[in-house]
Amino acid sequence: MNKATSTEGTLHSSASPSLRDEKAGKILLVGFGPGGKEQMTYRARAAIEEADVVIGYTTYIKLVQDLLTGKEVIRKGMTEEIDRCVEAYEAAKQGKVVALISSGDVGVYGMAGPTYEVLFQHGWTPQSDIQVEVVTGATALNACASLVGAPLTHDFCSISLSDLLTPWTTIRKRIDAVGAADFVIALYNPKSGRRTQQIVETQRILLQHHDAKTPVAIVKSAYRRRQDIQMTTLDEMANKDIGMLTTVIIGNSSSYVKEGLLITPRGYANKYDDLTGEAKDGEKAGLSLTMGLEGWHGCVRRWLEAGNHQPWEKIAAHFNAPVGEILEAVAGASEEANGDEPAGGYTAVRVDTNLENIIHEAALWGKLRAVIRSPAGAVTECLLTGDQFEMKNDWLNVVTDAFHIHVNWANVDHAYLAKRGEKSLGAHFVNKAGDMVFRLLLVKEGDDFNPDAMAAFEKTWKDLK
Ligand SMILES: C[S@@+](CC[C@H](N)C(=O)[O-])C[C@H]1O[C@@H](n2cnc3c(N)ncnc32)[C@H](O)[C@@H]1O
Repeated sequence: MNKATSTEGTLHSSASPSLRDEKAGKILLVGFGPGGKEQMTYRARAAIEEADVVIGYTTYIKLVQDLLTGKEVIRKGMTEEIDRCVEAYEAAKQGKVVALISSGDVGVYGMAGPTYEVLFQHGWTPQSDIQVEVVTGATALNACASLVGAPLTHDFCSISLSDLLTPWTTIRKRIDAVGAADFVIALYNPKSGRRTQQIVETQRILLQHHDAKTPVAIVKSAYRRRQDIQMTTLDEMANKDIGMLTTVIIGNSSSYVKEGLLITPRGYANKYDDLTGEAKDGEKAGLSLTMGLEGWHGCVRRWLEAGNHQPWEKIAAHFNAPVGEILEAVAGASEEANGDEPAGGYTAVRVDTNLENIIHEAALWGKLRAVIRSPAGAVTECLLTGDQFEMKNDWLNVVTDAFHIHVNWANVDHAYLAKRGEKSLGAHFVNKAGDMVFRLLLVKEGDDFNPDAMAAFEKTWKDLK
């Protein structure tokens, strides 16, 4: 183990380890904030002062130099993270109070995780003699956000672009997911001397979801001597000066820059005409929005009642929800209407058990159109009859000379029988998330549905309800 140990300043120590109970060792995992003294918490300062031994990356040790007088100091290189944890454990076993320091928050891409892993590997438990305390600090995304306005006022996430320990496929998937979900994103470890393309690739993925002019703040060395802030846009960010000590904050679709400040609105515009004005029609201060968890299905019904007669997919796109959720909202309306015309002529009934029965019954619905959509945009429609389906193991198959359909039946969680006025009748099979697996629609003969097929469909509806 490459050890660089020294005792700083005078010979005083706040408490001599030799006077302590041999078993009373302690590990303080200390996040000292972004780097400036004013940003360090009282507890972080007190924890470092309390320690006999301070262990940290060389640069971090420099940042807390004035607190190290009389302490044993162990400086480590950037890659020696596990060594730092092992040394902390060894020193604590000797009864010493050890501060293992980390910039920002020690639990955010910091030393808290590896330390617990090392401790557990050595048989440590929270009931053991060695106490462990995690001392929180302001993480880089908080520190950087505070310097550029208020970019984190709505849902945000952090992603580290370091692929030293995380496969790029995992990082890529996360960038794609949060881009699609419109989070504000803080990128940690965006670039280093060797890792230069990760930020370029991140930009490419996010541009698939976001406007090119989405505001971006690039903050280097927040609250340190070389602090630097650049305001830019998503399409420009990868060309900017970004280094190891930079955090990149990318706004969401509502974020904007005004007077040089990056702001993400809290959402007041959803409820009020202006920040100090009256609540909008239907909204009430202190209550969830009409589009809140308990209200949004009602909004779907009212939207349909208002004459927005669209195909299921278009409705789902309008509400930015899976088709299954729209069908659920319509099924709720159908139940409430109890026979009356609900939701603008849209009706649905949910089926949770014996879904195979729908397939059997579909043999009586005449000619059918099976519709399968790929998430990437292709739509397949095949004409068939219900008696062509065959269940084999977990697969529902239709095999003809013209096409093969293979549905993984294990993915089908529930189904809806649904009517879109006189326009479309059929069964919609969805997965747990409400995404459409496939649907079977009755086919019209000329302008109308075949009366026998319709009667059979109505019978299925009644029987399965
Ligand atoms: C290994 S992570 C450590 C994060 C740290 N534990 C925290 O909570 O901030 C290192 C990354 O944190 C970010 N970072 C840390 N300190 C920063 C600062 N003062 N200014 C800007 N970014 C910083 C940078 O993205 C850097 O690449």
